[in-house]
Amino acid sequence: MTTFASPATWSARRTSVREAQSLPARSVPRRLPNEFYPTPPEATRALLSVEHFDGDIWEPACGDGRIAKVLERHGHPVVATDLYPYGYGATGVDFLREREPRAKHIVTNPP
Ligand SMILES: C[S@@+](CC[C@H](N)C(=O)[O-])C[C@H]1O[C@@H](n2cnc3c(N)ncnc32)[C@H](O)[C@@H]1O
Repeated sequence: MTTFASPATWSARRTSVREAQSLPARSVPRRLPNEFYPTPPEATRALLSVEHFDGDIWEPACGDGRIAKVLERHGHPVVATDLYPYGYGATGVDFLREREPRAKHIVTNPP
């Protein structure tokens, strides 16, 4: 027969917010500013091997142009924008505030 301890014998330990805040620093890695994680070119090439784009493409979070450059190399007209300056495309464009797409297709790796 299996016996279980009754709730009266459970020992719970409450952790106060103050105590939790004094625990060691966060265990998740720190995120990079502006979520700038460039896409390896082979990922965009893989996309192009299975997807057909019959018009211009908007890369609305283009960063330093990792995706846009591959698209252009494959002959696609690309409109490249980003909110922050990483040396490629137009900057100061917050795609979350855009009312209309700037091209027929959108290809990006967003923040
Ligand atoms: C994950 S990185 C990807 C960069 C690029 N798409 C690539 O794949 O190499 C995200 C990009 O989004 C940009 N970003 C962040 N918030 C944005 C916003 N609200 N509007 C436009 N771009 C934004 C960052 O500056 C950064 O370049």
